Amino acid sequence: TQRTILVTGGAGYIGSHACKAIQRAGYTPVTFDNLETGWAEMVKFGPFEQGELRDRVQLDEVFARWKPTAVMHFAALSQIGEATRDPGKYWSANVGGAVTLLQTMVDHGCLNLVFSSTCATYGDKDGVLLDEDTPQHPINAYGASKRAIEDMIADFGQSFGLNSVIFRYFNVAGADPEAEIGEFHIPETHLIPILLEVASGEREKVTIFGADYPTPDGTCIRDYVHVSDLVEAHLLGLAWLEASKGSRVFCLGSSQGFSVHEVIAKAQEVTGLPIRSEIGPRRGGDAAKLVCGSAAATRVLGWQPKRSTLALMIEDAWRVRQSVRHPAGA
Ligand code: UFG
Repeated sequence: TQRTILVTGGAGYIGSHACKAIQRAGYTPVTFDNLETGWAEMVKFGPFEQGELRDRVQLDEVFARWKPTAVMHFAALSQIGEATRDPGKYWSANVGGAVTLLQTMVDHGCLNLVFSSTCATYGDKDGVLLDEDTPQHPINAYGASKRAIEDMIADFGQSFGLNSVIFRYFNVAGADPEAEIGEFHIPETHLIPILLEVASGEREKVTIFGADYPTPDGTCIRDYVHVSDLVEAHLLGLAWLEASKGSRVFCLGSSQGFSVHEVIAKAQEVTGLPIRSEIGPRRGGDAAKLVCGSAAATRVLGWQPKRSTLALMIEDAWRVRQSVRHPAGA
């Protein structure tokens, strides 16, 4: 029988790309999503269960029905600005959701977990190349909620033998190269999709959140990784869990940093269209520079990013923008 993977957040940006890769690898991805930020239209590669993670009764039913052998846990709120305005919402949804999920997994004997964590757990590290051993000191409630879940996963490992692969994502960008699915956020807050909205005339200009950071051109530096490469790492993580058991943490990025100015320049080049920008104030919770070393994922999992150049990420996102109708009908 085909192995079933429960994919929380499978209707979201990264989760939907993961479902496509999971199905292609011969598993059945069952999406569990409350559609707060996801889209039913993006659940194309396996069954869909609409539900709320903090609802234990519903989660029990889903585990009993599908008997997943592993869980990929993507479902979370992930906007740093919103997390800073309303921290309780983030602690409740992210940590509360994970508590219920982990307890349900253990009670149903499902002991393999792949978890989406973030470089936002590191805080502002003043330019050092981050890796798995860098101490974590989050500077916003989003990062803090993800770090708390990492700690909880370690506790469940000790007490119940939960096996886990924790991936700390850097800035995920791009879209399915075959343009079946893509990134659809409302409101859109991420840099690359905002630039594409400006390029296509849907938005007048982009506001650069601060040009007085201690970086060469004064704008924040981020490490962008293609969503297709990112989900490939998840499949390698799943294979590692099945073969090795245990618990590991991996950073996933391209090990290269680009400033906001550099991303804007590349987006103009790829689209061939002008992108108007203005310098605005800093956004709360932003670190000056977040770049990772992902040598561990390459060494242990054999991960080799293939599409994580700025040009390909923008190109793939641009193709989806031009060919896929926004699920909200916009
Ligand atoms: N930025 C702008 N103007 C905008 C949008 C973004 O200048 O209109 C800047 C940001 O200040 C930041 C960079 O562009 O310096 C990237 O911003 P994003 O909002 O695209 O991404 P973040 O780095 O803030 O955060 C994202 C996700 C988080 C995740 C994090 C990991 O939102 O969930 O990546 O790096 F944790």
